[in-house]
Amino acid sequence: MRYAIFSDIHSNLEGLEAVLKEAERCGADRLLCCGDIIGYNANPVECTELVREKGVRCIRGNHERGLVDLEAGNFPNMNPLAMAALHFTAEALPEEHRRWLVSLPDVLRVNDCFYLFHGSPSDPDEYIFDPFEAGYAFKSLLSDYPPPANLLCFIGHTHVCAAYSFDPERRKVRELGIRPGNRESLLPGSHYILNVGSCGQYRGGIPVATMALMDLDEMWVEFRFLEYDYRSTQKKVLAAGLPVPLAVRLGMGQ
Ligand SMILES: [Fe+2]
Repeated sequence: MRYAIFSDIHSNLEGLEAVLKEAERCGADRLLCCGDIIGYNANPVECTELVREKGVRCIRGNHERGLVDLEAGNFPNMNPLAMAALHFTAEALPEEHRRWLVSLPDVLRVNDCFYLFHGSPSDPDEYIFDPFEAGYAFKSLLSDYPPPANLLCFIGHTHVCAAYSFDPERRKVRELGIRPGNRESLLPGSHYILNVGSCGQYRGGIPVATMALMDLDEMWVEFRFLEYDYRSTQKKVLAAGLPVPLAVRLGMGQ
């Protein structure tokens, strides 16, 4: 079974289309998203429709939960740029789309083989940026989630690709180097936390859409960094009246 896993689409239709095209080209059997379908960019309706049409299995991110807060009259824990985009999104989404987005689960176990989380196994709002933080996340993954699916999980939220492995015998966390197209073998007995970055607002310094491809028959994972037409996305952000920095950051990969 071959899976294409991506995250943090953030209403970026061009980024999402690039990832879906690559998933198809690579023969992915299943499509999975680690949350934040909406927010920041100008195409929340189109992105929501496309993930549903393609049968992408999704969890909620903090931006979908922001819709819940807005409706309840609570103030979402977001910066002003994210808040501006959340208000734009809430206005743009038909009620049926909104209901679907907020009803997504926070955690997904896929075929009893692995998990999807947004931020970390212990907290959907938590950022994992280094092996130290990954160590705490492995602790939660191993103690809070039953085997065999706790061997592996995919996350997003930071908008930067990263991969960590944990060897339970040596009790050691290792950060794996990620190079585009590099194939990483998944070793029996090791546990993995794999951050698939973002297909809608990558923050690793280059204007790309990222995704991971995993083959569980051959036990490997690869990361893909895809060029896409971010200039069109920028134009749409500006035409929608969203804050200018949201357009600028797309071109800088930040
Ligand atoms: Fe996000």
